[in-house]
Amino acid sequence: MTYSGDFDAAWLPSGAFRAVGSRRSLIRAADAGPLVETVYGELADACARFGGRVVRGGGEDAELVLELTDDDLGDEGFALTRRDGTTTVTASGGRGLLYGLFHVVRLGEDAFAGERAREEHRPAYASRMLDHWDNVAVHPVMGQVERGYAGGSLFWADGRARGDLGRVRAYGRLLAACGINAVAVNNVNVHATEARLLTDRIGEVAAIADVLRPYGIRTHLSVTFAAPMVLGGLPTADPLDEAVRGWWAEATRRVYEQIGDFGGYVVKADSEGQPGPFAYGRSHADGANTLAAALEPYGGTVHWRAFVYDHHQDWRDRSTDRARAAYDHFTPLDGEFAANAVLQVKHGPMDFQVREPVSPLLGAMPDTRLAVELQVTQEYTGQQRHACWLGPMWSEALRFRPDGEVSAGRLADGLVAVSNAGDDPFWTGHPLAQANLYAFGRLAWDPAADPRAVLGEWIALTHPGAEERLADGLHAVLDGSWSTYEKYTAPLGVGFMVQPGHHYGPSVDGYEYSPWGTYHFADRDGIGVDRTTATGTGYAGQYAKPWAEVYESPETCPDELLLFFHHVPYGHVLHSGKTVIQHIYDTHFEGVEEAEEARRVWAGLADLVEPARHARVAERFEEQLRSAREWRDQVNSYFLRKSGVPDERGRTIH
Ligand code: GCU
Repeated sequence: MTYSGDFDAAWLPSGAFRAVGSRRSLIRAADAGPLVETVYGELADACARFGGRVVRGGGEDAELVLELTDDDLGDEGFALTRRDGTTTVTASGGRGLLYGLFHVVRLGEDAFAGERAREEHRPAYASRMLDHWDNVAVHPVMGQVERGYAGGSLFWADGRARGDLGRVRAYGRLLAACGINAVAVNNVNVHATEARLLTDRIGEVAAIADVLRPYGIRTHLSVTFAAPMVLGGLPTADPLDEAVRGWWAEATRRVYEQIGDFGGYVVKADSEGQPGPFAYGRSHADGANTLAAALEPYGGTVHWRAFVYDHHQDWRDRSTDRARAAYDHFTPLDGEFAANAVLQVKHGPMDFQVREPVSPLLGAMPDTRLAVELQVTQEYTGQQRHACWLGPMWSEALRFRPDGEVSAGRLADGLVAVSNAGDDPFWTGHPLAQANLYAFGRLAWDPAADPRAVLGEWIALTHPGAEERLADGLHAVLDGSWSTYEKYTAPLGVGFMVQPGHHYGPSVDGYEYSPWGTYHFADRDGIGVDRTTATGTGYAGQYAKPWAEVYESPETCPDELLLFFHHVPYGHVLHSGKTVIQHIYDTHFEGVEEAEEARRVWAGLADLVEPARHARVAERFEEQLRSAREWRDQVNSYFLRKSGVPDERGRTIH
């Protein structure tokens, strides 16, 4: 089937299938399930467009064979071989076969050239999930999609699940093509309408699950911890109360009646005002385990978020440190969580800033299943008006090793991200933000992948057959765009400095005297947060060695995190040889220059990009540049006024 609606083909345009669609293909699968049907459908469509042929069973002299075998490749793995003119994908499950097909699509003609010794591909993270912060009813402050920058929800419109789920199906297809296997369809802040998705409105969730299933995606639901009260009319939501446990068991049984492969629950409890176990004197393990017990008979999982901190902090109180909170709350509970409970931890200790250290919780709970949460939606990285390619940032985080050793493997059991997709024709508002969604899936499959290569894949798939100049141009505007964004916003890991509430654009003191625990402590002498064990909040001591020592001293702390860990004078000399104040000035001028250059490069690609896409990106670069200048001028002026130290190079600071 084709998806020729009024939305973009993203990384699956017709042309991306030319190599597979022009071949003779054979599918061998004894008991064909829905995923094998999907594989067949994909090949049949591609062949109809490019003149190839696909048959099932055997007998044919095929150039591409996709086969279910008894090999032990797991449900999702696949093997690829090429010998004597035949490219063969084998898998032990339907998902593996589908991922194998998309792998061949990515390889294009290369999949059909020369010989290829057997390669085995398996995902590093078993769970590769996207959370949608989508509301069913438009929220008066947060709108339809909380922190959404790509229009309305893909799933919900006019207060209910969309009647036409064709686009959700196309979304599932895009996600499968980059390896994502789970989606949570509603906001972690569960308001009154959305609470009911769990019970009387589960049919709407089931309809969504039906269209995602053929692409190997299991559907999850965010639920409110207070559900037994708000939906069940019980006087308590105490997780150890028998009636409460019974209520969860029964509600969950009914969910599985409708959605046999339901993935499970996502819970934000005791976090930013959401209800949770603390109200009953119970621990978060007690809370998570009650839901886990309800899900266990059906193979479901509860994703329990670790984003628990005091959001009513007194800014005068220098001893409370929000960065410490998740570790302090959760490490004492290590070993107490059920086997089907996953603690979902934001990658940094604060909140998706452009630069944060990796959360110390990630090395500190060996007897708990953990998932790392990333944010594809660019809440603090330009809100999909700025080009900010996040592959390098995630790659850095996922390669972090809590013990400092270089070891293979994963940082946690699962990888989750907040999606950046909505009903915008380009899916993601900024067309180039599609690359972030794609990269999340690919890095969840292989966190050791080179992000530049992942970007190259996205470019090639999205623009099949394009001239080299387009790929070069896209690399030029995206490769360094995270660094560019970092340069013109909050310096050296200190974070925030954004306008309160919506979080777009600069406001250096916007959160300085607020209850949110996000301060920079700039005064006339210096800036930064002392998180050392010796004189500060002790956060640095939450790391194992060597990191606890590396971060403890400004001598060894990496420049880019200096102000996250230390309060230093403006004259402090960085490893780069510059003073902190001169670094602030220089990076803010450079950041704007780099944004100007990106805009110029993009303008030069006009002849290679379809007009609507080119225009949309061009318009976003205008806004990025306006905003970057505003950041530069506010940040530089602020620090010139605070410090009184002039710019060495005498540039204009207002
Ligand atoms: C951020 C974001 C909120 C969101 C929260 C969360 O604070 O601004 O909108 O609800 O993270 O992750 O729960």
